[in-house]
Amino acid sequence: MRTTTARAYPNIALIKYWGKRDEARILPAAGSLSMTLDAFETTTTVIPTPDGVADTLELDGQPADEEATRRIAAFLDHVRALAGSEQKVMVASRNSVPTGAGLASSASGFAALATAAAAAFELDLDTRDLSRLARLGSGSACRSVLPGVSVWHAGDDETSFAEPVSAPDMRMVVLTVDRGRKPISSRSAMRLTAATSPFYDAWVASTETSLSAMIDACSEGDFTRIGEITESHALRMHALIQSTTPPIRFLRPQSVAIFDAVEKLRENGLEAYSTADAGPNVVVLVRPENTEAVARALEGLGDIRIVGPGPGAQLLPEGSEVP
Ligand code: PMV
Repeated sequence: MRTTTARAYPNIALIKYWGKRDEARILPAAGSLSMTLDAFETTTTVIPTPDGVADTLELDGQPADEEATRRIAAFLDHVRALAGSEQKVMVASRNSVPTGAGLASSASGFAALATAAAAAFELDLDTRDLSRLARLGSGSACRSVLPGVSVWHAGDDETSFAEPVSAPDMRMVVLTVDRGRKPISSRSAMRLTAATSPFYDAWVASTETSLSAMIDACSEGDFTRIGEITESHALRMHALIQSTTPPIRFLRPQSVAIFDAVEKLRENGLEAYSTADAGPNVVVLVRPENTEAVARALEGLGDIRIVGPGPGAQLLPEGSEVP
């Protein structure tokens, strides 16, 4: 075993993953598609502890709470099973994005951890198997193993991984309206949705249809179609989530104001489309040449950051340990 460090970036889904077919293996009810970003990265170091009796986790320089530690220990059990090892480890992870605020920190987190842990336990995994492994930590993490735009196939344990999709060059204007932790985790909210929403089956069926339309639009380089499907799919997901018992609302008045502002921009001939994950922050999809104009037009509606397609998860050279 060795000490290893890896870095991964979050992804923003254009076709959302919301609902599992299998909780234990994290198999999604439907496929999804996203763009891995070039900002908001997570860097994670895995250090073997020869005398360790338990895995430990340090998040942004602080010992993590019990729940987070339990979650990464359960993930590391999968890695140990693959490696035939019992070795416990210390994990130190640094996020440049607020943890749990709906900007996909679990995706970058588990993609980085899977990459670092696989190398620490000397597993020789190809991208596909690394994506399958990351999926066991957090579903959307399987897409952060890949660079740029990728599709995550619903599949079974063997075939549920992300792979690249050809797509036009695109940018995103990220508007952070709230950096706080969201009131309920995606995991619990998904469970509640599947158990209580009367619209769940329709969501799963229509997501498969939207996904194949999205893959076609991507391969044709049809930005308008990509944007239209993106915005409509995001609104469908939020409608679905609001239809649970008890209801969950992730979008805040400020989030809705951004959706409205983006619609106005389109009416005025500036193409842009909104999406939002399980949180109040809104991400606006734009053509590269319109990025600055859209960012300027949305000024004051949130903290703005412009992002583009980023790299897949990567192992960093020795000496890059998280301090
Ligand atoms: O991977 P999780 O459990 O954090 O779920 C992510 C769910 C969404 O971000 C809302 C949608 C998606 O496809 O990324």
